[in-house]
Amino acid sequence: MKQFSQTVFSFAITLGIASGFFAQSVAQNTKVQGLVADKAMVVSAREEASRIGIEIIKSGGNAFDAMMATEMALAVTFPFAGNLGGGGFMVYRMADGRIGSLDYREKAPLAASKDMYLDANGDVIPQLSTQGILASGVPGTLAGIFEAQAKFGKLKPKQVLQPVIDLARNGYVVTKNQGESLRMHRQLFIQVNGPNTFFGKEIKAGDILKQPALANTLERIAKNGKNEFYKGETAKILVNHFQTNGGIISKEDLVQYKAVWRDPIVFPYRDLKIISMAPPSSGGITLGQILKMLEPYPLRQLGYHSSEYIQVLVETERRAYADRNYYLGDPDFVQIPVNQLLDSAYLKSRMADFSFGKASKSADIGRGDIQFSESLETTHYSIVDADGNAVSVTTTLNGAYGSKVFVEELGFFMNNEMDDFSAKPGIPNMFGLIGAEANSIAPGKRMLSSMTPTIVEKEGKLAMVVGTPGGSTIITSVLQTILNVYEFDMGMQEAVNAPRFHHQWLPDLVNFEPKAFGAALVEQLKSRGYLINEGNSPIIGKVDAIRVLPNGKLEGGADPRGDDKAVGF
Ligand code: DON
Repeated sequence: MKQFSQTVFSFAITLGIASGFFAQSVAQNTKVQGLVADKAMVVSAREEASRIGIEIIKSGGNAFDAMMATEMALAVTFPFAGNLGGGGFMVYRMADGRIGSLDYREKAPLAASKDMYLDANGDVIPQLSTQGILASGVPGTLAGIFEAQAKFGKLKPKQVLQPVIDLARNGYVVTKNQGESLRMHRQLFIQVNGPNTFFGKEIKAGDILKQPALANTLERIAKNGKNEFYKGETAKILVNHFQTNGGIISKEDLVQYKAVWRDPIVFPYRDLKIISMAPPSSGGITLGQILKMLEPYPLRQLGYHSSEYIQVLVETERRAYADRNYYLGDPDFVQIPVNQLLDSAYLKSRMADFSFGKASKSADIGRGDIQFSESLETTHYSIVDADGNAVSVTTTLNGAYGSKVFVEELGFFMNNEMDDFSAKPGIPNMFGLIGAEANSIAPGKRMLSSMTPTIVEKEGKLAMVVGTPGGSTIITSVLQTILNVYEFDMGMQEAVNAPRFHHQWLPDLVNFEPKAFGAALVEQLKSRGYLINEGNSPIIGKVDAIRVLPNGKLEGGADPRGDDKAVGF
């Protein structure tokens, strides 16, 4: 339990959520409407980033140009998770219905090894995979945004990146949440990078933060393209930083890195078609398993946030996360029984032992028994452009400010994504997730993710673009946002504001946003055997989404749990 409370605490830090928010806002979930726009919208973790994305669309760019601009503007204004030193996933749907997805997840360095985070006794060395020079995977973000923009964008990268370079050079105003977050992490930045590190200085709400080193890096990237990051001067400086500080990321790692186009996971749920991310993210498959297990249950009749509704979500989540943790990993390294995992008969059998009378115990629920032949584990933004193309992107450094390693000369933080691997079977990572062989470390392998950038179609038309940060809670936050709209008729902003809960098989706990669920409900669930955690655990996502309204206009849902903002026209 102690370990879990620590995990929960790290979630709060990871999301950078103002601790007072839940008590004030989640509990009062009144009818609210988000920004409504006629044509195009960007919803992201920062107003400046949403605005730059929308300006790019106004000046003739499309969703993919806006992706490049928004992602880099988040790297400037939200170094907490926005990044050059991390990775992500993008799911798209063109106006004509074509769909696809791009994997720009980090990879284990070539010099990584299965037991690299274990000591001589085979025990996990605390913090080695979460903090400092050995915690980073090879970054994929630049490869991802250039790949997507080159394939589908309309503008020149230099035109797209210029406003971001100006923002880094001229600075922006630090928000209250951000000032607090930087204050909380300051000693850690100094501990990892030395006393003169850029973010070691005092930065307060209301200050103008200018980042000249980052502006120079972005300028070189705008001029030389992605090769600047993977083969050019930036690559040289990055590798030199790693090699002189005891790291293992090499020149070869950067040269070899490629973003990969993957077929998205597509499945029906009632009259909806859900399009989400395939492995190496667990998002699409796990969301698919949960929704398909839920489909036979009359959720509307059970009632919004009734104990039965919560039970059936928890029980489907329990079973889906048990499968996730065993079967899923990098598809380039392990065979994943995707069709079997999403098979309706299999999923029906998984729920056969559930009854409303009593909680199942995670100790009694293992992975499902699947036969397959021997050949056989942030910040989100949603975009709809003026032509109706949609892009759903979740990108991350993993923990807050990643490994805290800051490459001074380049002006950015490096990820600690290596912690998303299973360092040792059965030992939880920072999100309390327990992994197995499928997600063990190997050179060049991608670590399993929970990121769930998702697009929903209804009656053959674009209906919603949705996603969130939140580690293991990403999948269940996306799930509840979709159910809030399509089962409980909420608007987009209302669905985003609504209180959330989460279960992930192990630990065998149901986590509720504090003070947002009634005492009687909690008592009823306890009486049926559920272990409830309602402590100070504001862990459950920061959803940024766009919904197409029946009149064709767009409604934004920007999560008030952060500084998130919808901008549109
Ligand atoms: O890929 C994953 O599942 C995690 N690295 C995501 C981390 C995350 O969402 C951090 N934000 N709360």
